[in-house]
Amino acid sequence: MRRKIALIGGGQIGQILAMLAAQKELGDIVILDVPDYVNVCKGKALDLMEMAPHGNYDASISATYDYKDIEGADVVIVTAGKPREAGMTREDLLNVNIKIITEVANGVKQYAPKAFCIIVTNPLDAMVYVFHKVTGFPKHQVVGMAGTLDTARWRAFIAMELGVSVADVAGTVLGGHGPDMVPLPRLTTVGGVPLTEIATPEQIEKLVNRTREAGTEIVKLFGKGSAFFSPAWSAIVIAESYLKDKRRVLPCAALCQGEYGVNGLFIGVPCLISAKGMEKIFEIKLTEEEEAQFQKTVASVTKTVSECKI
Ligand code: APR
Repeated sequence: MRRKIALIGGGQIGQILAMLAAQKELGDIVILDVPDYVNVCKGKALDLMEMAPHGNYDASISATYDYKDIEGADVVIVTAGKPREAGMTREDLLNVNIKIITEVANGVKQYAPKAFCIIVTNPLDAMVYVFHKVTGFPKHQVVGMAGTLDTARWRAFIAMELGVSVADVAGTVLGGHGPDMVPLPRLTTVGGVPLTEIATPEQIEKLVNRTREAGTEIVKLFGKGSAFFSPAWSAIVIAESYLKDKRRVLPCAALCQGEYGVNGLFIGVPCLISAKGMEKIFEIKLTEEEEAQFQKTVASVTKTVSECKI
């Protein structure tokens, strides 16, 4: 029997998730969105079914506004949410998205209580916290997609700057999904060569700053809306590692209970993603400077989570 992937939110990222999940034959796909947008999602689902003969995949792709239709899903990826609109404060946006994530969490808890859940909606570190609180799912069953994207951006910028294949750039980014995230140049390599030996300190500083502001760089170019291709791929990589037990080590927002000195907070750390879900958090011994940066991002995430009043 095919696996079942439920995509909660069929907007910009949701539609790319559906396409990638189909192309990779991860399973049958159900897109769930609000009643007002469900016909558009049905159109997207049908369009993808009609792409199948050339895309060379077998999958059933459908859309719904009824949580009953996600029943028994193996994986749930949540992009449901509202973007920030003119006149909206950060707090207004937080409150709107808390309400949406609470509704989504209740639906998933009722109909897909065994699903491995990947949260993408921003502000990420707070939304994954809310989702986990409302569902009460075990910690191995819920992760936030942020570090996987931030690390992809870090690797891409390094490859672009040095003129090397991105395949040879390995590294990781820790912390919250915001401007104080912590890329780790000390532990980044290019074909096994330490980044710190082939890039100047000025180049590295530029790359760190660009990675921290990468989301904003795209928002500025778009004028309206935020990135969708790279966030979608980043979530699919996590889903695929779970479904195929690939055991990839991916930076995800995971519930830390003592790891990195953090207690009860979802924050970006390297995770082993296997058929068990978020099987393990790998700890890294940080230098004093890295630790100071990490404490700064923990403080930001703590502040946003406390604003959720949940
Ligand atoms: N239930 C289900 N779907 C919902 C709900 C809800 N209660 N509320 C909103 N949605 C849907 C919208 O109708 C829309 O189709 O969520 C979708 C969000 O899609 P987009 O607005 O296109 O946003 P997208 O670019 O996909 O980003 C989604 O991911 O990276 C983050 O910051 C980004 O929080 C945003 C999220």
